Amino acid sequence: MNEFERIERLPNYIFAVVNDLKMQARRAGEDVIDFSMGNPDGATPKHIVDKLIESAQKPKTHGYSVSKGIYKLREAITNWYARRYNVTFDPETEAVATMGSKEGYVHLTQAVTNVGDVAIVPDPTYPIHSYAFMLAGASVRKTELIYNDKYELDEDKFFESLDKAMIESVPKPKFLVVNFPHNPTTVTVTKDFYQRVVDYAKENNLWVISDIAYADITFDGYKTPSIFEAKGARDVAVESFTLSKSYNMAGWRVGFLVGNKTLIGAVQKYKSWIDYGMFTPIQVAATVALNGPQDCVKEITDTYRKRRDVLLESFAHAGWHIDKNKATMFCWAKIPQKCQFMGSLEFSKRLLTEAKVAVSPGVGFGAYGEGYVRIALIENEKRIRQAAKNIKKFLDKF
Ligand SMILES: Cc1ncc(COP(=O)(O)O)c(C=O)c1O
Repeated sequence: MNEFERIERLPNYIFAVVNDLKMQARRAGEDVIDFSMGNPDGATPKHIVDKLIESAQKPKTHGYSVSKGIYKLREAITNWYARRYNVTFDPETEAVATMGSKEGYVHLTQAVTNVGDVAIVPDPTYPIHSYAFMLAGASVRKTELIYNDKYELDEDKFFESLDKAMIESVPKPKFLVVNFPHNPTTVTVTKDFYQRVVDYAKENNLWVISDIAYADITFDGYKTPSIFEAKGARDVAVESFTLSKSYNMAGWRVGFLVGNKTLIGAVQKYKSWIDYGMFTPIQVAATVALNGPQDCVKEITDTYRKRRDVLLESFAHAGWHIDKNKATMFCWAKIPQKCQFMGSLEFSKRLLTEAKVAVSPGVGFGAYGEGYVRIALIENEKRIRQAAKNIKKFLDKF
């Protein structure tokens, strides 16, 4: 008997397998070098923390806040878009602050999904991109994300896979999720890609949800485009961003959604029934993060770039060649040829128990993630080099 059908739609978490092994090793006193989770290791910049403290000392900030976000924060969000992408949004009707972009995404799907709807989600994927729809009673049609060795999306193949999904799915898909730079693969797209997405969505009656969580974490001159640089995007799309990665604010839970008034209105209404908004001082400090000096974002990005370079170089010496990515706080690594037979889960387990290095098995992000692991750049350069030494010994066994 399925008493709790919604919960039963959620699978056991594949990452829990590696996580449990990691905890066991740590309890046994082992030093595990942990690249498994996309949890930034750096501190939030001081001027943001100072603002939180200053605001928290004012008693009038202690009551219930505004569920869709205080006006100043929504204004900072729309100014961020204006500065960065030259797009203007109305803070009242086209922006909503969310308690992290993950929760924002779940609230959006809860607000706008009908039971039985179909959503197209490229695979592999950040798990909540598909499970939020499943929690809302929808089905997910996966399409294979195809890219080259520079982790650039094969845009033609992307649209071919959409065509196939549109033809084969009953009922016709209603939502399309795009997330570039992509977690877990780091894949990037061109600005032109979004015009094709918007045109495609209009022709096929799709709503598009774009997630640009890693918009700032880009290297070697690559700049993240927004779907709102495409003509007509606000007729069909919303886009989410988060302060978690750009400002090392993952624990603060601040994100936002902008775009189509119908979708944003639905999220605002939904949230007005279920929450009272983030603690006001967090919203005030988030406003300062978005409006204030942005050199901290550059420093955070530089840290990830340097770690990426050290990782690619030291792992190559250890016999593990990984292609160079242009974005995100991850490397998406094909498992070395001689270990491919294990599959990504067994490889990750053995890497942990034998080399004391934790990574996320690609299969945890979907069937098309098999053969790869995701390495989060959340350990410092010295520890990355140490991991490479451990990995060399491990790989030399085969
Ligand atoms: C692609 C993507 N979107 C959204 C999030 C969630 O970010 P948050 O909920 O902290 O805003 C993450 C976190 O890792 C992510 O990788």
